[in-house]
Amino acid sequence: MRTKPEMMGQLRPAFSELNISEGFEFDTEIVTNEIKEDCKPLLLSNEQLTTLMKDMNDAINKGLSKDTNPSSVVKCYVTYVQDLPNGTERGKFLALDLGGTNFRVLLIELGENNYFHMDSEIFKVPEYIQTGKGTELFDHIAKCLAEFVKKHNVDSTVTLPLGFTFSFPLRQVGLTKGYLNSWTKGFNCSGVVDEDVVRLLKEAIRKRKDVEIDVCGILNDTTGTLMSCAWKNPNTKIGVIVGTGCNACYVEKVENAELFDGDSSKPYVIINTEWGAFGDDGKLASITTKYDREIDELSLNAGCQRFEKMISGMYMGEIVRLTIVDLANQKKLFEGRLSDQMKTKGAFGTSFISDIESDKANYKETLKVLNEMGISDPSLVDCANVRYICECVSRRSAHLVSAGLAVLLNKMNEKSVTIGVDGSVYRFHPYFHKLMVEKTKQLANPDIKFDMMLSEDGSGRGAALVAAVAVRDELPKMNGVAAV
Ligand code: GLC
Repeated sequence: MRTKPEMMGQLRPAFSELNISEGFEFDTEIVTNEIKEDCKPLLLSNEQLTTLMKDMNDAINKGLSKDTNPSSVVKCYVTYVQDLPNGTERGKFLALDLGGTNFRVLLIELGENNYFHMDSEIFKVPEYIQTGKGTELFDHIAKCLAEFVKKHNVDSTVTLPLGFTFSFPLRQVGLTKGYLNSWTKGFNCSGVVDEDVVRLLKEAIRKRKDVEIDVCGILNDTTGTLMSCAWKNPNTKIGVIVGTGCNACYVEKVENAELFDGDSSKPYVIINTEWGAFGDDGKLASITTKYDREIDELSLNAGCQRFEKMISGMYMGEIVRLTIVDLANQKKLFEGRLSDQMKTKGAFGTSFISDIESDKANYKETLKVLNEMGISDPSLVDCANVRYICECVSRRSAHLVSAGLAVLLNKMNEKSVTIGVDGSVYRFHPYFHKLMVEKTKQLANPDIKFDMMLSEDGSGRGAALVAAVAVRDELPKMNGVAAV
């Protein structure tokens, strides 16, 4: 008879009382050796991470340099954001946030004493729009904006400044002009690659004739994250997202950003690394597992965003599912029994990993997830094995982000840096922050102090702040924004 985990759980001490082996968050004692063996490729040593850091550093330098940028996989886009906020920004701003399955419209008011008020609404971007015609996507965005403005009684006699958070690789040639390099994260709308996204947005709005806006800035969500943290903490010099996708931006010296052709009297500019594409030239081959290869081959953008596909929320659940299916097919899990759900691509959401890893000794959450996935009678060992797989996948993800962050910290070589972080994986995974801090400490130069701060709605607030900086530039009397 199979032993029910709940019953066994009562006989076992809580995780906190157990030996935590190899830095795992729970006791791995009952995890079967064959599962441990099969998961080994997911565990990255510091040596492997250090090699990766060297390659990533080279890739970033290649992206920054004019001569090598065209052939670089890490593009290091210049953002034209050169000023960080200092909390004295004022005014009302509209913001649009497109970057995942949800699209948001926001109305933000910044006032004295860090006064901040935000109204926002979420609109779905259905899959047929995500992969349809570009004009339809922008018409949809304009329609949502018009609906929002009407519903929230936004004064139609004034033209509100608008910041557009567009979280895809954008080759910017100014604060309000950017050409889409390629779609990522499940988007694939036709007719947008190599087009100026701000122009497409303005055209869609103009066609409707019912809203007046002034696009003051287009930005990446990483830039928004950096800006929104900097508003509270001026020491913020890195913005990172671990959500549906994964990416980072940082503050770079203008002289190192060879493609920058903006105001060189200001010493710094934010660089959107688009590090998700790291490895697209094969640099991650030695740590790529068969599951990573399968994820990539079956994705909309095969061969692209290899680093991101090992890390982000769009893929982590699927990596776990593929691992489970493979091991069950080898009879190493669930006595070889699999459900239809478990065999369905995309059915194991990344949020399940967070649920499973939040579990206590009785495996209640793990059982719930497995039941939801149609596995009705897992054994205690099955539960421990599944949890182990989840931990291996999420640890790898956190450690890869840490390696990237350590590269940026070492590269900037500032004594002390605050890292603004956002994204569903970072927010909802129970140990992600801890894993990232621990590993970044091990990998960054020991004399660099850093801390990680959760960004409060970087995509929305950050867009308003970028717009605020732009408005400030147009109206010098509104001065109140500090140089980076
Ligand atoms: C993808 C996008 C990037 C974005 C990241 C996080 O990597 O290409 O622009 O910052 O996802 O949303």
